[in-house]
Amino acid sequence: MTAEGKTAASQFLALTADYLTGGYRRPHALGFEGDVFLAGPLTGTENGEAGDALNNSPKREADSLEKVAEEVQRCAGCRLCEKRTRSVAGEGVREPLVLVVGEGPGADEDAAGRPFVGKAGQLLDRMLASIGLSRQKNCYIANVVKCRPPQNRDPAPDEIVSCSRFLSRQIALLKPKVIFCAGRIAAQTILHTATGIGSLRGHFEEYSTGGVFNETDRITTGIAAFRIPLLATYHPSALLRNEDLKRPAWEDLKLLRSRLAELDSIYARETAEQP
Ligand code: URA
Repeated sequence: MTAEGKTAASQFLALTADYLTGGYRRPHALGFEGDVFLAGPLTGTENGEAGDALNNSPKREADSLEKVAEEVQRCAGCRLCEKRTRSVAGEGVREPLVLVVGEGPGADEDAAGRPFVGKAGQLLDRMLASIGLSRQKNCYIANVVKCRPPQNRDPAPDEIVSCSRFLSRQIALLKPKVIFCAGRIAAQTILHTATGIGSLRGHFEEYSTGGVFNETDRITTGIAAFRIPLLATYHPSALLRNEDLKRPAWEDLKLLRSRLAELDSIYARETAEQP
């Protein structure tokens, strides 16, 4: 079988497995079927055991960040697994104010198994620190793809599709107050759009998943559903290449800071104390 054939077969199997275990998918702007995975694997069906006596549907095993990390570690869902040294699931606090989403690991991250640890990562850390955020205190940092695309190329659409079930689960588990996208790939993937980063940045968008909302934002279907404000900015690597992007990126950071201040008085208090 060709490499493309293997990837297609593996993706088909992943889609089927997610479908069978309660995953939820919706169309992807890149022309593929993207996914929003809202549930852990089904349990309680072994030996014919019914999971839920009342409605006769099997129980769901709770999903967790640890499960996501384990699955990322042994994932062979696309060709990126062939050349990786280490996969990079993500890191940070469990109930973050902000989930920062990048594109995918580079060489430094591939070696360390941690997100954003190279030059771009150091700049990202400084950007976050300038508005009172850090992965140690109030952020979680993840990427769209969890394995390094060779030669720092963009992740291919099929690689993004194969990997995005991990990010969807991380978002559902972390329930951040805000999603902050570092760069075009993250913003386009999460928002299911092909719009350029120049138009996506500078204002809040919204990540929403599952269910149907009424005017008061209450869930009107049985499917888990939530809405999260999302802000995109230029990728720190782009800022390192092009100084002119630093000013608009700073404007984006200020926008993020004011939204967080509105959302969270603790954050407002902490950052007010900063120089
Ligand atoms: N660039 C990214 O998008 N993510 C990383 O983790 C590192 C560099």
